[in-house]
Amino acid sequence: MSFKELPLMEPKDGTVLFYPYISKSSFAEVKKVLSGRWIGQGPLVNKFEKKFKNMFAGKNHCIATGSGTDALHLAYILAGLKKGDEVIAPVYTCTATNIPFLYMGVNIKFADIDIETMNISVDSVKKLLTKKTKAIICMHYGGLPCDLNELQVLANKYKIPLIEDAAHAIGATYKKKSIGSISDFTMFSFQAIKHITTGDGGMLCFKNKKLIEKAKRIRWFGISREDKQKGIWENDISEVGYKYQMTDLGASLGYTALKEFQKLLSHRQKIFKIYKDILSRNPNIFCVDKNDGNRTHASWLFTLLSEEKDRIQKRLREKKIESNQVHFRNDKYSIFKKFVRGKSFPNMDYVEDKYLVLPNHHKISENKAKYIAQTIDNLL
Ligand SMILES: Cc1ncc(COP(=O)(O)O)c(C=O)c1O
Repeated sequence: MSFKELPLMEPKDGTVLFYPYISKSSFAEVKKVLSGRWIGQGPLVNKFEKKFKNMFAGKNHCIATGSGTDALHLAYILAGLKKGDEVIAPVYTCTATNIPFLYMGVNIKFADIDIETMNISVDSVKKLLTKKTKAIICMHYGGLPCDLNELQVLANKYKIPLIEDAAHAIGATYKKKSIGSISDFTMFSFQAIKHITTGDGGMLCFKNKKLIEKAKRIRWFGISREDKQKGIWENDISEVGYKYQMTDLGASLGYTALKEFQKLLSHRQKIFKIYKDILSRNPNIFCVDKNDGNRTHASWLFTLLSEEKDRIQKRLREKKIESNQVHFRNDKYSIFKKFVRGKSFPNMDYVEDKYLVLPNHHKISENKAKYIAQTIDNLL
């Protein structure tokens, strides 16, 4: 069964896979922004960054961007990556993790996944590391943190940065530390269907204080906005920048959503648990997760593995419930072909036709989740 045979559903036709969360209180906040002076990047962006830092980043610094992809590109620039450099990155992720490397002419060595978590495999990373490696990138699939200690040990050994794509993992923890407060660079996404949204938006959290000014300049054409606003017009541009800023409109949505974040996270975790409790008893299903006491799951996605994936998806669609694969292995895309000639990814091969994501968002009630899980359980 291909994606083409199952077009996207509309909410009026049943239970959709994703639905954006817009807090009721954000309407008044957006109205305030619309009737004020700052619609683009203004004081609300700073306020949002500060609140985000307090909630997730600890001592790390936070820069809000126009998208998660902007934040990743910014991280790669700040990490000093240049044309011809080599990085190790996950083969299974949103293409946004890897596309910025193509902007930069950076060579990607794709690492295989762990079947249990669908996160990057530490063993695969170990095999790919060489003196030429300039960074390790990991992505916390579905919201489950990667093996950060092990990856950090490898990064330290080679004196290279570890960069986390935490687009799915806002609110997750690893060894009791918040994702966002741990590595050299961590990126978050506030795209429409993430835990919280700014319409489109992202956040980059990073350790090195010395990078703050550079990060802000690169976010804005390479110009220091602060100097410009002080009326200092002799403002040379000595490095290429981008237009990667967040707007006050987006920040007003993000700020109000952060106030409700705990409630949103708990709901997703509850739905995840219902699916897992019911489906993990079924011998034909494996629930993608890892309970080793080291991590809390941000539960953005619930993913199952089954030989019967197509049958499950078809039955759910008959019951007007949407499910899908969401992300696809990156080595299959033509744009990445030059990095994968002669390479193999046995774990990715194993899960490729087995994984399926079930709906998990604020509109999925506990009863609906039980119904979805039981529909699958009864089928197999
Ligand atoms: C794993 C992952 N990385 C990066 C991104 C890119 O984020 P954005 O859409 O905010 O640019 C996404 C999705 O949106 C994602 O799922």
